[in-house]
Amino acid sequence: MAQHKCTRWAVDLASWSPTLPQLAQAVAVIQAEERGRLQKFFYIDDFLSSLVGRLLMRKYVSVQSGMDYKEVQFARDVRGKPYWTQAANECPNQMSFNVSHQGNFVLFAGVSMDTKVKVAEPTTFGVGVDVMKIEYSGGKSLSEFFRIMQRKFSDSEWRYIRRPHHNEFDQVQAFMRHWCLKEAYVKELGVGITIDLQKISFKVDTSRELSVAESPLTGTTLRCNDMLMHDWHFEEHLLHPKYCAAIAFRNCKPEEGKFELLKMDQLLVETESATSIEVVQYCREALRKERRKS
Ligand code: COA
Ligand code: MG
Repeated sequence: MAQHKCTRWAVDLASWSPTLPQLAQAVAVIQAEERGRLQKFFYIDDFLSSLVGRLLMRKYVSVQSGMDYKEVQFARDVRGKPYWTQAANECPNQMSFNVSHQGNFVLFAGVSMDTKVKVAEPTTFGVGVDVMKIEYSGGKSLSEFFRIMQRKFSDSEWRYIRRPHHNEFDQVQAFMRHWCLKEAYVKELGVGITIDLQKISFKVDTSRELSVAESPLTGTTLRCNDMLMHDWHFEEHLLHPKYCAAIAFRNCKPEEGKFELLKMDQLLVETESATSIEVVQYCREALRKERRKS
């Protein structure tokens, strides 16, 4: 039995055009510094993606710890990775979570110890997640783009991405799958892009096609400096024909599962401060932001 449980949540923002009261409910529960950060986004799309990521983290910690939505406090480490500040006191069983957003999708992956499984000495563990839209919209040709990106992937990864006899879409998909895996790994570590990405080499699971129905694929392996990394486990997902995602698990291998698609009302809670003048005014301004043209 797996010692860890994974929660996988996805929100598709294509179906959400927030009303003022809805936005106010969301904004009312996030921390002041997050409001300040969100305010700086030019496009409403980026504002909402980031906001929803915060709500997903909040919901998860609230469910896991039994704490009230509004009492949950997050901070960021020096590299910007968010963590739950009360973790050490309130949740000795430890948890790890991460958020990713791109295009219409916001994804959340959270891992916690399964309290039903008794272990003598729990080890530390962690999770990273990344989502990418499968499209190439740069001005250059795809081969020119790949040339510029040369240093991001190892030779064997490029051999797979550039497989001959595959059309452009397949090549872009292969590129994005590797990108997600690498990002999910890097995001678990929280190190941003300060490591040599060519020394981190993935071998994607080729036993089956990556498809929405058959997701996740779990046979992907990782080599760092040519050494097989036994402590890591990966899931690759196709959420939608145009969006792929990866989850990186360090020191844990939860039972596999698909992302659960949440509706916005599953993330919002009623709170008095949603009607405060300050919050309502802030939301009015946010709703004036431009939509990205897609
Ligand atoms: N580590 C892990 N998670 C982090 C993080 C860090 N250092 N910093 C922020 N996050 C979390 C936050 O919740 C953030 O959401 P927010 O911006 O709304 O606060 C979320 O991860 C962002 O993830 P994602 O939507 O996937 O963004 P990204 O892919 O643009 O950036 C970075 C991810 C910033 C963590 C980092 O990996 C990076 O700099 N990437 C650059 C791209 C690159 O060259 N990647 C190489 C892979 S081939
Ligand atoms: Mg990303």
